[in-house]
Amino acid sequence: MSKVATIEIDGKKYEFPVVEGTENEQGIDIKKLRAEAGVITLDRGYKNTGSCESAITFLNGEEGILRYRGYSIESLAEKADFLEVAYLLIFGELPTKTQLDKFYADIKEESAVDEEMKKILDGFPKSAHPMGVLSSLTSALIAFNPSSVNVDSEEEMYKAIVKILGKFPVLAAWTLRKKNSLPLNYGDDSLGYVENLHKMMFEKPGKSYKVDKEVIDALDKLLILHADHEQNCSTSTVRMVGSSHAGLFASISAGISALWGPLHGGANQAVIEMLERIKEDGGDTKKFMAKAKDKEDPFRLMGFGHRVYKNFDPRAKIIKKSADEVLGQLGVDDPVLDIAKGLEKEALEDQYFVDRKLYPNVDFYSGIIYRALGIPVEMFTVMFALGRLPGWIAQWREMRLMKEPIGRPRQIYTGANLREFKEVEKR
Ligand code: CMC
Repeated sequence: MSKVATIEIDGKKYEFPVVEGTENEQGIDIKKLRAEAGVITLDRGYKNTGSCESAITFLNGEEGILRYRGYSIESLAEKADFLEVAYLLIFGELPTKTQLDKFYADIKEESAVDEEMKKILDGFPKSAHPMGVLSSLTSALIAFNPSSVNVDSEEEMYKAIVKILGKFPVLAAWTLRKKNSLPLNYGDDSLGYVENLHKMMFEKPGKSYKVDKEVIDALDKLLILHADHEQNCSTSTVRMVGSSHAGLFASISAGISALWGPLHGGANQAVIEMLERIKEDGGDTKKFMAKAKDKEDPFRLMGFGHRVYKNFDPRAKIIKKSADEVLGQLGVDDPVLDIAKGLEKEALEDQYFVDRKLYPNVDFYSGIIYRALGIPVEMFTVMFALGRLPGWIAQWREMRLMKEPIGRPRQIYTGANLREFKEVEKR
């Protein structure tokens, strides 16, 4: 028999169905609460609110589990490549070789960006943050592509998906090239998705392009680790914007803006800046630990803590190991890696962090790898966006296919009661 939750308000009892997921998570479906009892639920920051049912990503924050479509993040990071993971997230199954080849061929077919887009990019100052530029360019893509997608047409959906997967890396690379005063270029269809991205970002005019396999493998792994994370801030934004039936590109552009914030994807930039600051300050990690615990001080230990992980972020474990490997392979000796390890050790033994279950998150070590790969600090969050793109697409597609209603939370009004209007002279 299905479970029921009873809520009692002013002595009156109301019953609501309990929805159960495939991993036994349970949620009270309070859809009829207001209609029946005249009250709503209040949950600032949605700390305890499920916004949808989803079959894409499973996350257990208490046990530190992350799975895409049932596959553990550990196995995918070790064995899959980014494009396979993108296909898996979006369409639900790992692709066969034929399916994967077709998928990539279709993406490549759609990778060209209208030349007019270069004029838009030209309008930005070189000092503009790449995340702002990327969000604007993604939105500008709508001018050259259909603004909405007929979700009843599998073909139209597919077309929109391969278009954004093809054009997004070009735009991301252009934001970097603009910053570095390099001519805008296109990729090379003979390369894989990630290698092509790398080439578009770093190829120098007149120089032949060469890259170590280790660099591409490390980048591929980082993109996989960021590819989806269920209903986080940017993904919820993508779903929310899409729920008004705004098109895919508009929804993704909004997601990029949400990701930019330092409490979300922007943390990877903030972490490296914090580690640099500690280094320049003489490397006294204890001083910064004290600042992080001081409630009068706005300083937080960036890269620590997570809304849902109250245990190790499994992505952080993989990335930490990867940081050691990649820096070793590339012969890079980065002193901030030692500062990061020192901070982690102290935090894991500190009562404040232990009590609040604060562990390193995905962003704590990722910046150290990005930097070792030659990626500038301001591009770190763009790399996160490149990784998260398939997740955003998958979640948007699922939301539209499930015909989710428009997202529209309620509120408890705390403002003034009805007041008499006063003419300006009488105020
Ligand atoms: N440093 C110091 N104290 C912290 C930190 C931190 N990084 N994170 C949380 N706390 C404290 C917080 O002050 C609060 O203490 P108290 O209970 O005494 O008031 C308690 O821990 C709970 O924190 P919260 O802010 O209520 O938790 P939240 O779930 O709202 O926030 C978070 C989660 C990720 C925004 C937060 O941990 C944070 O700001 N971390 C630093 C930024 C960061 O690394 N963000 C990247 C997240 S992972 C990448 C992604 O998926 O976006």
